Amino acid sequence: MSDPQQYWANRPDAASRPGEVSLLLPDVDLRLTTDRGVFSANQIDRGTRFLLLDGPPPPGGPVDLMDLGCGYGPIACTLATRNPEATVWAVDVNERARELCRANALAAGLDGVRVTTPDEVPDGLSLAGLWSNPPIRIGKKALHDLLDRWLSHLAPDGTAHLVVQRHLGADSLAKWLDARGWPTTRRGSRKGFRLLDVGSRTETSANRGRPE
Ligand SMILES: C[S@@+](CC[C@H](N)C(=O)[O-])C[C@H]1O[C@@H](n2cnc3c(N)ncnc32)[C@H](O)[C@@H]1O
Repeated sequence: MSDPQQYWANRPDAASRPGEVSLLLPDVDLRLTTDRGVFSANQIDRGTRFLLLDGPPPPGGPVDLMDLGCGYGPIACTLATRNPEATVWAVDVNERARELCRANALAAGLDGVRVTTPDEVPDGLSLAGLWSNPPIRIGKKALHDLLDRWLSHLAPDGTAHLVVQRHLGADSLAKWLDARGWPTTRRGSRKGFRLLDVGSRTETSANRGRPE
C-alpha cells in the first residue's frame, strides 16, 4: 500500500509493524493492537474519541449493534464494554483491520464482538444502533451507497451516530441523509468534527417509491 491514506484496501500490502494504542475514556481503559495499513494506527483518531465521549451510550439488553468500518476496533470494543449483553457487528473490508479487531476484542474478553466482512452480515439484521467513523475518503457515491445499505438495517426505533470532519463535507452529508429520508440532527460539534444522529427511514418526496 504505497498511499498511506488507502486504509480501506481489502489486503493492505504495507509490511506488518504491530503497535499499541491506549483507549482511555471515563468508563473504558483498553490497550489495542494496531498495525500499518489500518486507519489511525498510531493513536485513537480524534473523531473516534469525540464519538465515544459525546455520543450516547448504547441501548441496553441483548440488542444488535454495529460498528461500520471497525478498523482495529476502538468503537466496537467500547460498545461491547458498555453493553456486554449486546452483539456488536464489527464490519470492515480491510482484512488486517478485521484481524486486529478480533484479537483486540478477544484480549479484552469482549465476547459480544462479531467481526465480519460486509457480505457476512446476516440478512434481515435489525440494528438497535449503528456507530461509525465512516470512510469519507472512499468518495461521495461509494459513501452514499454504503450509508444507504447499512442505515436500512436500523430498527424502526434504532439510531445511528456518525462522526464526520466538517471540512470533509459533514454538513452536506447531513443534508443528503435528511433528503434521502434518514432524519439527521447535529448532536455536537468539536474541533472541526460534527457528530450526527440519524434515525431510521421516513418517507420523503425524494425517496417515495424507492426500494428500501
Ligand atoms: C475512518 S476509518 C474508522 C476506523 C475505526 N472505526 C476507528 O475509529 O479507528 C473507516 C473504516 O471503514 C473501512 N471501510 C472502507 N470501506 C468500507 C466498506 N465498504 N464497508 C465497510 N468498511 C469499510 C475502512 O477500511 C476503515 O477501517
